[in-house]
Amino acid sequence: MSTFKGKKIMVIGGTSGIGLAAARQLRDEGANVIAVSRRGEIDKKSKGNNAKIKTDSCDVLDRDGLKALFKKHGKLDHLVCAATGGPRARGPFVDMDLDDFQGSFAKLWGYSNTIHAAAKHMNKKGSIAIVSGSPARKCTAGMMAISTVGGAVEAFAKAMAKELAPVRVNIVSPGLIDTPMSPLKGKERKDFYKNATANNLVPRAGTSEEVGAGIVFALSNDFMTGSTIDVDGGLQLP
Ligand SMILES: NC(=O)c1ccc[n+]([C@@H]2O[C@H](COP(=O)([O-])OP(=O)(O)OC[C@H]3O[C@@H](n4cnc5c(N)ncnc54)[C@H](OP(=O)(O)O)[C@@H]3O)[C@@H](O)[C@H]2O)c1
Repeated sequence: MSTFKGKKIMVIGGTSGIGLAAARQLRDEGANVIAVSRRGEIDKKSKGNNAKIKTDSCDVLDRDGLKALFKKHGKLDHLVCAATGGPRARGPFVDMDLDDFQGSFAKLWGYSNTIHAAAKHMNKKGSIAIVSGSPARKCTAGMMAISTVGGAVEAFAKAMAKELAPVRVNIVSPGLIDTPMSPLKGKERKDFYKNATANNLVPRAGTSEEVGAGIVFALSNDFMTGSTIDVDGGLQLP
């Protein structure tokens, strides 16, 4: 297993939610972490210690910006792709605005732009962790856009594991996680997570820290590539 002491790790989408939790855990293990997002600053509402986490700003849909970002920061030991990229359409496909459906692929374009720009800056002994999501392999009605994009993200990640070897590429697939991605507040938020997870084997929303731990494991395990770690309370079971 690799240790992270002194390693340079960039977490794209590292200023909030799952990416921020991974950034903090990697920092705690001695890594030099750069958290990147459009705003380039850590979510002010998030509770926790952000000491020593450097930040930078870049939009994953800006290819020239990404090229400049990776050139500026030099060789990377590990890369985490956790940026949502943009909104994803929900609801039945036949009622969906097709522009919203196409727009949902911003997550895939963000990840592919990022890895295209990052590849030549990766340490050959390093790795990339790509955050997917349980709908990629567990389809439910109304989640069609998210499932389609998720499936594409996972296929992309596995193809990248073959092309970028010896750099390892793994997928971390969260279930429903309580993060700032959801705009709901107060009782409405609590009820949503309670109802949405009531029939799950682990009947609650996951935490960013639980998914962050999956990311840390994927980066640290030198014998793992092209693999998927599900952190989803058992959602993948039939
Ligand atoms: N939460 C869940 O239930 C859940 C479930 C399955 C999968 N996921 C996946 O997990 C990943 C992280 O989600 P999260 O829940 O942690 O969301 P989050 O708390 O909203 O964090 C998203 C992060 O991505 C950044 N970001 C968004 N669009 C970006 C762009 N175009 N360019 C650069 N940075 C961008 C955001 O910062 P800025 O806004 O400043 O750019 C923020 O740092 C996403 O890929 C999401 O699809 C989440």
